Amino acid sequence: MRMGEGMDASITSERPSAPCVLRAARAEDVDAVLEIERAAFGDPWSRSAFVDLIGDPRVAFIVADIAGDVRGYIVAWYVLDEGEIGNLAVHDSARRQGIGARLLDGAIAAVRASDVDSLYLEVRDSNAAARALYASRGFAEVGRRREYYRRPKEDALVLRLDLEPIPPG
Ligand SMILES: CC(C)(COP(=O)(O)OP(=O)(O)OC[C@H]1O[C@@H](n2cnc3c(N)ncnc32)[C@H](O)[C@@H]1OP(=O)(O)O)[C@@H](O)C(=O)NCCC(=O)NCCS
Repeated sequence: MRMGEGMDASITSERPSAPCVLRAARAEDVDAVLEIERAAFGDPWSRSAFVDLIGDPRVAFIVADIAGDVRGYIVAWYVLDEGEIGNLAVHDSARRQGIGARLLDGAIAAVRASDVDSLYLEVRDSNAAARALYASRGFAEVGRRREYYRRPKEDALVLRLDLEPIPPG
């Protein structure tokens, strides 16, 4: 299975007022993704960075779609048995409704299905919301990159989640 596929309409949540559907990102989602990205980060990814990920078989680029509006997204990729969460954000009006957790769970499931056994990510030291979310899924701190981020300059914590292999059958 290509990562991000096979999730249309099948994973829904009752928590927001309209159902939240996780699905693979499409080219027409990039405007909404960029709007969230630019509001969320001081050093946002470019349009081409997102466009280039669409359709890449080693990338899970998943959006949270509520009534046709993209309210969040996650990007994960893998090489051999290692994966990385490269990006995650939820529209500020849609936070604390479980969307970030569902996106993270969706990305974990996608990389796990591709025989990844370790999933890494970097997070700003001061990002309490994201750190709490990652801790809730079992990510543990394995390193620190000094002054990794710009705007503002800050250390990154490196977190890792060890994934259990999916039992055969
Ligand atoms: C981090 C982020 C994606 C979380 O998205 P979200 O949809 O609001 O998160 P959820 O509602 O799924 O929260 C899941 C858990 O994360 C933790 N959490 C989320 N926001 C939190 C906050 N503001 N303070 C403390 N814990 C928080 C809680 O443990 C929460 O569980 P709970 O609601 O049962 O307490 C969102 O805050 C965001 O987009 N931030 C800006 C971009 C960013 O920092 N991305 C991560 C880069 S590494």
